[in-house]
Amino acid sequence: TAPANNGGGNAAAGDKKITLGFAQVGAESGWRTANTKSIQDSAKEVGYELKFSDAQQKQENQIKAIRSYIQQKVDVIAFSPVVESGWDTVLKEAKDAGIPVILTDRAVDSADKSLYKTFIGSDFVEEGRKAGQWLADKYKDAQEDVNIVELQGTTGSAPANDRKAGFAEKIAANPKLKVIASQTGDFTRAKGKEVMQAFLKAHKDIDVLYAHNDDMALGAIQAIEAAGLKPGEDIVIISVDAVKDGMQAAADGKINFIVECNPLLGPQLMEAVQAVVDGKEIEARIVTDETTFTSEQAKEALPSRQY
Ligand code: AHR
Repeated sequence: TAPANNGGGNAAAGDKKITLGFAQVGAESGWRTANTKSIQDSAKEVGYELKFSDAQQKQENQIKAIRSYIQQKVDVIAFSPVVESGWDTVLKEAKDAGIPVILTDRAVDSADKSLYKTFIGSDFVEEGRKAGQWLADKYKDAQEDVNIVELQGTTGSAPANDRKAGFAEKIAANPKLKVIASQTGDFTRAKGKEVMQAFLKAHKDIDVLYAHNDDMALGAIQAIEAAGLKPGEDIVIISVDAVKDGMQAAADGKINFIVECNPLLGPQLMEAVQAVVDGKEIEARIVTDETTFTSEQAKEALPSRQY
């Protein structure tokens, strides 16, 4: 059956293909690569025309892409906002043009919730809490200070803000757990390595690394090994994502605990697009199901890991 036009999109009655404009953050991590593939594969499967752009982690590029989708009169715009702030103007332009917007993966801080139809993605605060809780449990009987360094994600992004906040909330109960340095590694392997090198130079007594994603942890592992230390033993490592390379490092004992962040958002996005085009009500927030992995659990899960 043909999708009806709810007045909020441009899909005409009849069998016109739905056109989806997707403005991706970039290709900064293994997670992002899996996310892009999921979106491209899912669009193909349901037969939507996908217009895809890569913003190379720059907000201005994403804004440009969204404006071009408005000009092209796509039926729905979806995007994963590189940072949380600064979207009101362009979202208002889409709304005025009658093009519905769906957020995937990352949130915006716009007060006007009518600027987008739904937000599909993880609960990043909860991810940070899971990381913090694991550490708090591990060091519950600590007699001495536990020195933690933190590799933050992209400055101003929802996952960096929220993973930091959730982690801080859970470790606050134990004054022995101390974050002695915290800096952005921009979610990339190269920056993770570079910042970890600087941390190791500045601090001789690092006990724990909390990295906001696997790629930064993997870069940091290279720096730790180059400094003659054993990742996972001399420095306990916690990260977020659970992509294959991260899971392999966990299975090898180099990462001690991974909080999963699911990148396979494509199928849920396509369902939401169809619902919006059909003029159906959709939930304002769709949260992804996620788990955690110790080294042992990573070993078990690795052979069947898709990404
Ligand atoms: O927004 C999700 C985060 O972005 C992932 O955890 C990270 O790897 C990616 O770059």
